[in-house]
Order: sequence, then C-alpha cells, then structure tokens
Amino acid sequence: MLLSQAFLAFGALMQGAAAMHLEQRQNSSNSSVVTWDDHSLMINGERVMIYSAEVHGFRYPGAASWIEVFQKLKAAGFNTRGHFNLDGFRDPEAFFDAAKTVGLYVISRPGPYINAEASSGGFPGWLQRIEGPARNSLQAYTDAYLPYITKIFEITARNQIDRGGPVIALQLENEYDEIVGGEDFEYERILEIVAVDAGITVPTTHNGALAAAFTNFFINHVDIWGYDGYPATKTICPNKDTWPADAIKQNQWAMHIDSKYNRGQPMAIYEFEGGFKQAWNPGPQLFSVTGHRSQVMVVFFKNKYSMATTIFNIYMAWGGTNWGNLASPDCYTSYDFGALISEERLLRNKYYEAKIQAQFLQSSPAFLTAFPQNIGNNTMAYVASASDSLTITMSLDLEGQASKFFFARHTDASYMGESNYSLLLPTSHGDLKVPQLGGHLTLRGRDTKIHVVDYKVGHHTLLYSSAEVLTSLVIDGVTNVVLYGDHGQLHKTAVMGVGNKCYSVVESGNESGTVHVSNGTGTDFVMNYRTIGTTAVKIGKDLVIYLLDRKTAYLTWPNIENNVLIFGGYLIRSASVDGSILSVSGDLNTTTSLDIVCPSQVNTLNFNGRTVEMTPTRLGTKRASVTPNLIDVVLPDLAAASWRSADSLPELSVGYHDSNWTVADANKTTNPDTPETSVILYSGEYGYHCGVILWRGHFNAVVGEERLSLHLYGGGGFGFSIYDNEKVVESWNGRRYEANRKSDIILPEAWKAGEDHVITVVQDHMGYRMSWTANTALFKEPRGIFGYNFTTSNGSLVNHADAVWKVQGNLGGEGHVDQIRGPYNEGGLYGERHGWHLPEFPDVDWHQSSPLDGLSTAGARFYRTTFNLAVPDSVDYPISLRLPAISSSNPPYRAIIFVNGYQFGRYASSLGPQTRFAIPPTILNRHGKNTLVIALWALSEKGARLSSLSLEFDS
Ligand SMILES: *[C@@H]1O[C@H](CO)[C@@H](O)[C@H](O)[C@H]1NC(C)=O
Ligand SMILES: *[C@@H]1O[C@H](CO)[C@@H](O)[C@H](O)[C@H]1NC(C)=O
Ligand SMILES: *[C@@H]1O[C@H](CO)[C@@H](O)[C@H](O)[C@H]1NC(C)=O
Ligand SMILES: *[C@@H]1O[C@H](CO)[C@@H](O)[C@H](O)[C@H]1NC(C)=O
Repeated sequence: MLLSQAFLAFGALMQGAAAMHLEQRQNSSNSSVVTWDDHSLMINGERVMIYSAEVHGFRYPGAASWIEVFQKLKAAGFNTRGHFNLDGFRDPEAFFDAAKTVGLYVISRPGPYINAEASSGGFPGWLQRIEGPARNSLQAYTDAYLPYITKIFEITARNQIDRGGPVIALQLENEYDEIVGGEDFEYERILEIVAVDAGITVPTTHNGALAAAFTNFFINHVDIWGYDGYPATKTICPNKDTWPADAIKQNQWAMHIDSKYNRGQPMAIYEFEGGFKQAWNPGPQLFSVTGHRSQVMVVFFKNKYSMATTIFNIYMAWGGTNWGNLASPDCYTSYDFGALISEERLLRNKYYEAKIQAQFLQSSPAFLTAFPQNIGNNTMAYVASASDSLTITMSLDLEGQASKFFFARHTDASYMGESNYSLLLPTSHGDLKVPQLGGHLTLRGRDTKIHVVDYKVGHHTLLYSSAEVLTSLVIDGVTNVVLYGDHGQLHKTAVMGVGNKCYSVVESGNESGTVHVSNGTGTDFVMNYRTIGTTAVKIGKDLVIYLLDRKTAYLTWPNIENNVLIFGGYLIRSASVDGSILSVSGDLNTTTSLDIVCPSQVNTLNFNGRTVEMTPTRLGTKRASVTPNLIDVVLPDLAAASWRSADSLPELSVGYHDSNWTVADANKTTNPDTPETSVILYSGEYGYHCGVILWRGHFNAVVGEERLSLHLYGGGGFGFSIYDNEKVVESWNGRRYEANRKSDIILPEAWKAGEDHVITVVQDHMGYRMSWTANTALFKEPRGIFGYNFTTSNGSLVNHADAVWKVQGNLGGEGHVDQIRGPYNEGGLYGERHGWHLPEFPDVDWHQSSPLDGLSTAGARFYRTTFNLAVPDSVDYPISLRLPAISSSNPPYRAIIFVNGYQFGRYASSLGPQTRFAIPPTILNRHGKNTLVIALWALSEKGARLSSLSLEFDS
C-alpha cells in the first residue's frame, strides 16, 4: 500500500501536544504528580485511563523515526507506551524526548532483565562469564547489573513527569516469576532501593507472568503490581481456529477477586497479547502473523476491561525488526509480532480496533471508577431472551454517576454462530427491555459488546445504548456522540430528557441506516436504527448522534484535546485549531473525503501544509476532499544490477594463517553446562556473542582417524558446516527449537599418521537463550563446541591432547569496532571481519558475479551492489527485499543481508519462514545511493544461489 505522508508538517502541532502536558505539570510538585487508589492512576489528581502500547526503540535504529510511530499511537488514542532498553546500546534520552514531543506518557521497563525475545533476554554477552545464575542477589550478578541499572534509573528519574518528562511509572524487573529458581527477596529489595536512591518518585511496577496461576513475586517491593496475559495464543494454539468453550472464563482472573492481591491498587496489565512472537520455521500448525486477528482484541481485551483494568499495555503496538543479530533463538529477523502496526509501519485492522476501544475508554471517565458486580454470576445475567447462552458482566461506576457498563459475549467462546438477544437493563428510569421498539439485538461469534447505561456524553446522558460508544465531545456547546455497530445490525439508543425536542435524521449518501424514533418512556428520546455507513441524528440544538458501522468507525478520528472530530482518512495524525485555521496532518492511501466537525470560527483547512476547500454538508459537517500525491517511484531491478563478489572463506585454503585468531585455551568455565572437551570451546568465553562463529582445530593425525563426532550448540534453528581441511564433511540447515546437534561424521578419507589437519567449523550463533525464570542461568546455554572425538576404524578413541583450537567472531569481540551499529551487527565471517558489508568498502578489485549466479560448492561469498532510490519525502512507501520461497528441497544455504552496513536479515533457505525483509526508511537513503551486501553461505557441497531477489513495495 502506498501512502502519502506528512513527514514535514508536524513541528508546530507536536509542540502543541507537548506543551499541553507541560502546562498540566507546572502546578504540581514532585511525587504528588502521579498517585493512585484501588481504581486508577491519577495524574495531577485527575484520573487517567493508562492505555499503552509497547514499542522497543532498539528495534528501530534512527531516533528521528520514533516520532513517526509514536504519532500513530497517539492518533489511536493511546496515551502511554511501554518501553525497554538494551544495555549501552541506545540512549533512552532520545526515546523519552520523542515520546514527549508527541505528547505520550511512558512506562519505562528497562530491565535489568527484559526478556523480549532479545538475545540473552537483553543481558550483555559478557554476563556469560559471571559466576552463578542471574536475576538474584548473588555478588557476581549484582556487580554486573548494578552500574547499568543505577544509570538507567537516574536517566529515568530525570525524565519523570514531575521533572517535565514523559515518564509516569518505572518497572523494576520483568516477569520475575516461577518456582524453579525461587524468589530472591533481597534482589527485589536492592532494586527498590536503587530506584529510590536514583530519585524515582513515580510509582514502581512489576508484571507477574504467572500471576493467575500461582506467583506474586515482587508484590511487596513495588507500588503498583500487575500482570501479563497472552490468552489467545494459549487458547488458540495449536489449533488457531478453535477457541475452547471456557476461554472467557479462563481469562477472567483479576487480582481484585483474589484476596492475596487486593492491595488498594488499580488493576494493571503491563503486557497483554496484541500479537505473538514467531519462531524459525513455525510450521503450519502455528498461527501466522496475519492470522492473529482483531477478534482477540474484541473478546479478550474487553474481557479485561470488564474486570476493571485501568492500566493496560498492549504488547506489541509495533514490533520492528530483530536487525543485527539482536534476537534470541525464539525469533527470526522480523519482530512483526502480528502487532497493531505491521513491521513496515502499515496500520492493520487490529490498530483500528484498538483505536476505537482506546477512544471509548478515553472518553469514559465513569469507567475509571467502575467495578464488576457479578463476577462468577454472569451467565445469562441481564438477559431478557436469547437464542444462545450469553455471559454479561456488569461493571458499575461506584463513585460517579452510577454509570453501568454491560459486557456481553457468548458463554461458549467456541461458538461461531450469530445469536439474537434482548436485554433487561436496570436504568435510572427503571428496568427496561432493550430493544424497546421491537426486533432483537444480534451478537456474532467471537464478538463482545459494551452496552452502556446512564452514561454521560458531554452535556447529556445516554439512558442506554446497545450500539457501542466510540467517543463523545463537545464542540461549540454541541455534544457530539459517535456510536457504532456491525454493518446492518439493529441497535437501540435512548437519550435522557430530550424526548420533547425537535429532531432530524440526516443520512449521508446512499449508504445509511434508517432510524425509527419514539418517545419510549415519555421524556426520553428513544431510537431504533441499523448501523450502515454514517447517519446523523440531531436532537434539539445541542446534541448530534452519529451512527456508524464498524468500517466507518475505524476511519473516524476524534481529537478530544483540540475539539475536532474527523470522519475519514487512513490516518489522521493530529488536528488543531488556531483562530480560523484548522491544521490537520495525516496519511492517505487514496482520494478521501473528510467530514469535519470543528469550532464554527474555522473557515480554512490546512491539510499537510496545503489549503483545502471545505463545503458544508447536510450532516452539519464541513467536507473536504483531499488527494494524496502518490508519485510513481520505480524500484531498481536487483537481478539486472551489477554485482561484485569475493570469497569469504579464505580460511579454508591451505596457506591460510590464523596467527591473529583468538586461541581457545581456557580450561575452566562458570557455565553450568560443563563441556566434554579439555579446553572450553564456547564462543562467549572469548567475547564472541553473535552471528557466525568460526572455529579452527589443528590436529596432527596419529593412527588413521576415520570418524569424527562433533557436538555443537548454536541455538534453535542454527546451521553449520564442518570442514576437514578444504573439504566439507557435514552440514546442517537447522530445525525449529533444535539448539544443539551431535554429528557423527565418517571422514571421506581416513587420516594418515603424521598428516596435519584443520577442522574448520562454520556455525551460527542464533543469539543466547533467554533467562525467563527468576534466579536461573538459562541464558548460559553455550554457543560453540560442547564435545568432539575421533575414532579409528576399530572404534577406538584417539586422544588429541595437543590439539590447538582457535576461534573468530565479530571484529574486536566485546571491544566491537562499529560504535554506530552496535555490538551485535556483525558476525565472524571473513567479509564481516574485514568490513565488506560497509558502504565505504572499496570493491573495485572484486570480480563481477551476482548472488543469482551463486556458488557451485560449499563456501561463503560476499556480493556487493549499489542502487539508487528517488522517493520523495512527501510519501511513505515501505520497501522490502524479497528472497526466494522457502523449500525443504532448496540446497541448504543462508543469506545475511546488509543494507548500508546494517544487518537487516538472516535468511535460511529450507527453514524460513521469512522471505521478505523490511528495510526501514531510517536505514535507506531515499534520495540517492544505497549499498546492498549479501553474504551467501552455501552449507553443503550442493552450493547455493538466490533464484530470485527483488526490492518491493509493501502492502
Ligand atoms: C446474580 O446476578 C443477578 C443479576 O443478573 C442478581 O439478581 C442475583 O442476585 C445474583 N446472584 C448472586 C448470588 O449474586
Ligand atoms: C415526544 O413527546 C413530545 C411531548 O410529549 C412530543 O412533542 C414529541 O413530538 C414526541 N416525539 C416523538 C418523536 O414522538
Ligand atoms: C485505504 O486504507 C483503508 C484502511 O486500511 C482501507 O480500508 C482502504 O481499502 C484503503 N484504500 C486503498 C485504495 O488502498
Ligand atoms: C594480523 O593483525 C595485524 C594487525 O591487526 C594485521 O596487520 C595483519 O595483517 C594480520 N595478519 C593476518 C595474517 O591477518
């Protein structure tokens, strides 16, 4: 999909948003800014729904572009983002600044441990060598993390809301859970103290991963304890199309209803499933990224709202990319995650669904003090009649206007059919049967509706509404209410006390619902209608109700802060009024008609910096037609490009000298996986923590060695080639979750006594395993050679006590040379060690050949080309690199992709699943030359070539 995007028009608007928050902050002093009770968080004494969505700065190199993603979140009605950080990797300051600029709050979740499908769960490589397990109060681990966390907490403190920054909460550890390692109370206490000493005054938090099951670690050492939930992947997988009948019930756990958690804190969920991670070669039984549907958000999110959740963080809003080897073996290069916003930054249906939910919660102050009244007694509650069993939880506003929220869904979550029902709703005007004017309501399978009762909208009150509320806002004294339902569904809404007012119904265009009005209960205005397209009902002088179908609701953009309501548009980033000028910025994918409700003094629309004419409509809106300038951009043909290439395994040649290599001669390790070798052959022992690792073992044959058994660890999905001198003797292209593999190799020719042999191992390091559970050393699962031995024809072992092993990983190891791209960007291939992936490398002497020609036998080659782009700033055309389809019949090969020096892809020909590699605009030069480098590693003697390679626009 091609979008025109307003990169340039934002400056003034963003300052507006930030200034508003700053103003709010001035009349408050330090720690009193953020407070809470058992209902919600309060900022400057005002209750706020914390509607947050996760973004990882480190998965999007290029701070300037965080603003771009943040605006999308802000536009959706999110007000907060969860946030992680990697040790020494990226400056959190820039991230905080970007959030502040856009006007978002931040819940900072910096570690010390982050999990997040990052290598080692975010721990630095050198932690491999500390004594003992991690995530505890042992000296070695404490010494390791303390300087980092102290610094991060100090930076966070400087960016707290009471010091003018965006941070409203700080998480002290991540999913510190499980019974295996046990809870280390001292560790929790230390983190609490470090936070206090660093000057943290905002609430501290923790997210239990197994809370509903049994643990509540950290509960005594943080202010607002919460938990994480990934219900759909548990219940959908392995069979994504079948949800268990009791899915709703299973997902109904809330700490409020468990006395051990009832601590005068709001109900907080710090991670909730907005998508799910994807493994190497996930296989057909796992759901695909795009198979993770918005139904999950409709059913499971609303289920959590029904349990009074007022702090809610969706994981992920936007996943980004596991560029430069940063992933743990759980994930391939893309961290799309099936998130609300795709890896290419395109808006999914899930984004729009989350948006209408967020907008509803943001415009429902009563929700912040509502509490469920019939947990465990909700089957057929408030149902007058129904064709199937429904579960309705009623959440009552305990402190405000006694508003009620009825969460209606099927009792049997596996049910896919449509049910008819009517309700018996307790309202301030007595118990009312809805629909009042005949007909029945309908509920699809995998849907949940929030029906409101005695619900305040601007200057009016809805007695009830079966159609869901998107937003309400008062503009020029007129209350504008936006309601929505599925296309063509019958709905019913009653407004209190305006039954005697004149009204008119305006249908917009050919697609509108018919509205029937009756006085119902005398003074109340009651209407039956079908939600189709857009219909406006004007009641009296100061109330307009817009009735929309879901598709129209998705593209409706309320801006409560600035009193503007816009119908239409792929993405409206911001809107603000200054005198008679309305300035709107947004992204369009086609010519779009915007229907705008804004203060009457506005007579000029400025859309993305251009003045656009507005004409009044019968709906009472101002209509403007905006057209994107979707300029034709031609992408270069990589197959026809001129490529140069060079051999990247000169280490195989007889004359190769490895005198510069690191000698692997350590003979003790802190790793609990004790190797079978006499010297330690784990790459982490020598400072190599990512990418391809090369080993060279020097042997002098003794007695006719005939077999080699070699046991390698590389992490799930890893591949390898083993060479005896120049001859490849074994290769493996990986399997999902297979972290280690023992090869029993019959050498092609038995060794002759006295001969020198070099065993070269080229292996993947897929990232370190995460250390998900408390007080464990899972992250130390080794990468390298666990054991090996030679046997003769009669099976006797040959002792090679004098063997010398050498190892190479990324240039400089822990003293990595590339300070811009960070410690993980390169691996240990010869080409990487010699900067062949960098744009500035001179390849004039290389001979011409393309990755589409490839290698005829085992080996590794680097291929370099350049291409020019001319993509105007006014458009955002996401660009990806596409490699051949995955097939088990492909010769096994791997390709490592570098764009302008950044490693933006690891491709595995027979493993997959990834064939498309998104290249973000922060890495690409959109106005000139780009350097593309592909390292092609043919694992076996079958050789390898790319059968296709192209740049493509994403849609
Ligand atoms: C169950 O809920 C209904 C409302 O639907 C209420 O009338 C009834 O008293 C509740 N029963 C219990 C035991 O809470
Ligand atoms: C509602 O009742 C009032 C007075 O009782 C009347 O003036 C008005 O026309 C009625 N409205 C409708 C839609 O029937
Ligand atoms: C534009 O985007 C919206 C929202 O995703 C979609 O419904 C519509 O079909 C798109 N139109 C075009 C022309 O791509
Ligand atoms: C060894 O390293 C030195 C300096 O780092 C370099 O000049 C030399 O070329 C290297 N030798 C080999 C054989 O790679």
